[in-house]
Amino acid sequence: MIAVLLLVAVGGWWVGARTAGPAYALGNGLALTPPMGWNDWNSYGCSVSDSLIRQTADKFVSSGLAAAGYQYVNIDDCWMQHSRDSSGNLQPDFAKFPSGISGVAAYVHSKGLKLGIYEDAGTATCAGYPGSLGHEAQDARLFASWGVDYLKYDNCNNAGQTSQQQYIARYTAMRDALAATGRPIVFSICEWGSSSPWTWGANVGNLWRTTGDISASFSSMLSIYRRNVTLAQYAGPGAWNDPDMLEVGRGMSTEEDRTEFSLWAEMAAPLLAGNNLVTASATTLSILGNKAVIAVDQDALGKQGREVSSSGGLHVLTKPLSNGDASVVLFNENSGAATISTTAAAVGKTGSATYTLNDLWTGAVSSTTGTISASVPGHGVVMYRVSGGSSSPSPSPSGSASPSPSPSSSGSGVPVACRVSDVISKWDTGLTANITITNSGSATVSGWSLAFTLPSGQTISNGWNATYSPSSGQVTATNVSYNGTLPPGGSTTIGFQATHTGNAAAPAAFALNGAPCAVS
Ligand code: GLA
Repeated sequence: MIAVLLLVAVGGWWVGARTAGPAYALGNGLALTPPMGWNDWNSYGCSVSDSLIRQTADKFVSSGLAAAGYQYVNIDDCWMQHSRDSSGNLQPDFAKFPSGISGVAAYVHSKGLKLGIYEDAGTATCAGYPGSLGHEAQDARLFASWGVDYLKYDNCNNAGQTSQQQYIARYTAMRDALAATGRPIVFSICEWGSSSPWTWGANVGNLWRTTGDISASFSSMLSIYRRNVTLAQYAGPGAWNDPDMLEVGRGMSTEEDRTEFSLWAEMAAPLLAGNNLVTASATTLSILGNKAVIAVDQDALGKQGREVSSSGGLHVLTKPLSNGDASVVLFNENSGAATISTTAAAVGKTGSATYTLNDLWTGAVSSTTGTISASVPGHGVVMYRVSGGSSSPSPSPSGSASPSPSPSSSGSGVPVACRVSDVISKWDTGLTANITITNSGSATVSGWSLAFTLPSGQTISNGWNATYSPSSGQVTATNVSYNGTLPPGGSTTIGFQATHTGNAAAPAAFALNGAPCAVS
């Protein structure tokens, strides 16, 4: 208790002073390993309902995923009515939730699972329902009274209050409101990495999104991986980088699904499935249910894996585990198979003549005197648990963490070639667009601006992974510091939320640094 009080007392100082990993986290004692569960948004959008939540809870139990560690069944946006009641309370949409949120919570609890809900730190949620800004204490009390165990707290309609201090103030208000209820509620900060939440999130929430929304494509997953993997120093028990929900079983290839699951586990990410669990295939359930990979994610040491080398799209990651083993992922982001090699010493293992390699996807066991090497399929991984010898405290990077040198750069007048694809989710009055930009030329693009036209009646209200201006009509999105370089074949996903007046058509007429882009 003293520790908790002290933490609250020094909160203001701590937020400003902190630059490295958390010495201690939020202190609510929750999410000491990354949360595991499911969220409806990516598969169902606004079509969430009581029956969907109940069926998903049932499936968690009957499929064995609950026994494998999945616990939180999370309701996302669109669960409520468009206005508060006369006492200012949020009201469930009773057409979707006939027994209210308390009714569905009781059912989920009866299955031995926990219930999550969604709100927003602005005046309205991303889909336009009442936000919690200024109502934090009342809303937190209501959630606690309903039996809510997890709150995802979003960032739409924040009235342009976008300084880091303003972000911290809004999210801290809800942290304190949740604490005041006395109910243990995991606090998930969802501000898309906008104000570098990894530098302040450990004191405010249990996890924080590091990027914009993921979509079910390898390129979206890859761009999020690239961002999230650099943030290892900020993660620890009770405080996790959140690279967004799993896209396993939602349209990527089986190889790519295994890759995402492995990378997310290696990065100690929350494992929140986002697929239709009720009709999930046996293959999808077996990927989500791989206990050896889950054990890496859930390891009690709570270290996020790091890249020890990364060159030409071939990555080696290592994550130290509590029993002295190391989890190693060899990841090939290219489309053709490639051999990826490292050594026991490079992944932090020393002091033995031989090491045992457990392949966490095939179950094969082999031994090595030091070299760790495998042929890795395109877009695939090989994942080993390495045991034997001792572990060195912090493996030092042995390779370059930057892409291989590029032949030339667009900055020197070489023409740009580009391809763009976009994924639009829309509802009555708004939409989100996730736009993947691929450099399809032979030169590296160093610094970019993507021009496009936004259909009339649409206005951007929030954006991520780029700076947008103006917010309607002919828009230009300019790179932010971490995604300004696009090597040949490289891509990045940017996104925005827009309001619309009935015209939910996609953006069009894309041009990257002035060169028109093919749309695919
Ligand atoms: C934002 C979040 C998503 C989802 C939607 C709901 O885009 O990042 O994960 O919660 O809002 O509107």
